[in-house]
Amino acid sequence: MKRLVYILAGLIIVASFLILLIFRLLNRVPSEEYAENLRVQMILDKGGCLVCHNMEPEFPFYSNFPVIGKMVREDAAEALVQIDLNEAMTALKANQPVGEVALAKIEKSILDRTMPLFNYYMIHWASFTTEAEREIILNWARNHRLAHYSNGLAADEFLNEAVQPVEDYIPVDQAKVALGDLLYHDTRLSLDNTLSCASCHDLETAGVDNEVFSPGVGGQIGTINSPTVFNSVYNFVQFWDGRAPTLATQAAQPPLNPVEMASISFEQIIDKLKQDKELSRQFHKVYPEGYSEATITDAIAEFEKTLLTPNSRLDRYLKGEASAMSELELKGYALFKDYECATCHVGVYMGGQSYEKMGMARDYFADRNTELSLDDMGRFKETGIERDRHRFKVPGLRNIALTEPYFHDGTRKNLRDATADMALYQLDISLEEEELDAFEAFYETLTGEYQGKLLMNKNLNR
Ligand code: HEC
Ligand code: HEC
Ligand code: HEC
Repeated sequence: MKRLVYILAGLIIVASFLILLIFRLLNRVPSEEYAENLRVQMILDKGGCLVCHNMEPEFPFYSNFPVIGKMVREDAAEALVQIDLNEAMTALKANQPVGEVALAKIEKSILDRTMPLFNYYMIHWASFTTEAEREIILNWARNHRLAHYSNGLAADEFLNEAVQPVEDYIPVDQAKVALGDLLYHDTRLSLDNTLSCASCHDLETAGVDNEVFSPGVGGQIGTINSPTVFNSVYNFVQFWDGRAPTLATQAAQPPLNPVEMASISFEQIIDKLKQDKELSRQFHKVYPEGYSEATITDAIAEFEKTLLTPNSRLDRYLKGEASAMSELELKGYALFKDYECATCHVGVYMGGQSYEKMGMARDYFADRNTELSLDDMGRFKETGIERDRHRFKVPGLRNIALTEPYFHDGTRKNLRDATADMALYQLDISLEEEELDAFEAFYETLTGEYQGKLLMNKNLNR
């Protein structure tokens, strides 16, 4: 009897060693001889990231089996909502920068050990990411961020933060800025000379109007909330659905939008501007070719590049001023990073770098239970691709304490509700009251300075 136990124990030990050996052999850490990029590619490949996170998933053979196949397909569909990793892999192969959001998401999933998905390495057990491999990915993420995304303003200890400080200025042509400033405030861009850009994006009200939907010419009401113009230069594309690739192409749209400024054409606007001898003289000095849609919007875009709000308390903290934030505010920042907020709300603007689905974890629009507008479709409206339904450009969170109401549909009146719902609909987390307190405190540290003074909002008396 005793012998049997010994034999069994011996067998178990030998089997364990064999399993470990096979695991080691199959799951070898990529050799240090390889370049860092290649090692990361190999680890992600082995982790099956592209099997699931891919528009055209590379399904394994068993995905044709009845029960397991259904599981695989469901996982892949859910994975694709989270992120398409094809672009990141292609960039890695070409030695190009991986997008800032993809970088933050990959880093976070490895940091939290959530990926590869358990279901996957149960079958492909060698796909499990070992400690040595985690280290390779985390080092790569750090190096990659330093090389491509940290603007050097943060103190050494914060150079690897997903959030980076706002710059003091971006190089601009001052003569164009002066013209752009005038045109930004010029009501002649609207049909009945009642509205300028500043009517909906007043600089004294933090670049918003605090309405759910802004009234246009004749009191017409749009169907999407006005974002702020402050720091919009940091957006990778403009508008909630990204339909304008640049600030200049963005500025060409409101003047002719029938529910906004409602002008018939740029010729109509130019005819009015031409009657202004002083403006025309100044304009020709800077743009010898004269007024056109291209030159007018170029000047406005140049002006918008000056709408930066540096030196918020978070930025001062990141630059090394430890006392710039209170304990509660720092707790809010820690939560912001621990939960996955800083993977979408990433970079200098804390957003504006990717499209993301509103309702990753739960169906936001079903719960809202009001009729869907075309604008609710988000990016889908532009591409017609099913995956883009309800995907919006992530709003930046700079000066967020001044820009209520929130969300593209303006349905959240205050930040407490917006935050609780972000956690719920994007991450399936119910935040505690104390956590919400910390988030609210943290948002106050995101208000920056414009022209050397703390940004204010006259509408809100703060
Ligand atoms: C078997 C399919 C599958 C594989 C393989 C897989 N994922 Fe995922 N991934 C998912 C699913 C499903 C979700 C959403 C549910 C969840 O978060 O658990 C997800 C979520 C994510 C997220 C966002 C949320 C989070 O948990 O961080 C990231 C980032 C991510 N995966 C990265 C990766 C990377 C990197 C790899 C390769 C190392 C990988 N995934 C491998 C299916 C997969
Ligand atoms: C009637 C109100 C109104 C007027 C006037 C107006 N806008 Fe807007 N603006 C909006 C709304 C609403 C949106 C969001 C629309 C969307 O995303 O589809 C927006 C979006 C923007 C954005 C994109 C910001 C981002 O984060 O995506 C910029 C930049 C901007 N406007 C600048 C301007 C400029 C410059 C003018 C003048 C030429 C102007 N706006 C006139 C209401 C207005
Ligand atoms: C998967 C990406 C993603 C994650 C994770 C995420 N957000 Fe968002 N966030 C978005 C998108 C997209 C919107 C715009 C939604 C809309 O308007 O319908 C948004 C909007 C917001 C807004 C309102 C901004 C405005 O101007 O209307 C706040 C505040 C916010 N998020 C905070 C957070 C916080 C706090 C967390 C973490 C608990 C978080 N977000 C996590 C993508 C994300």
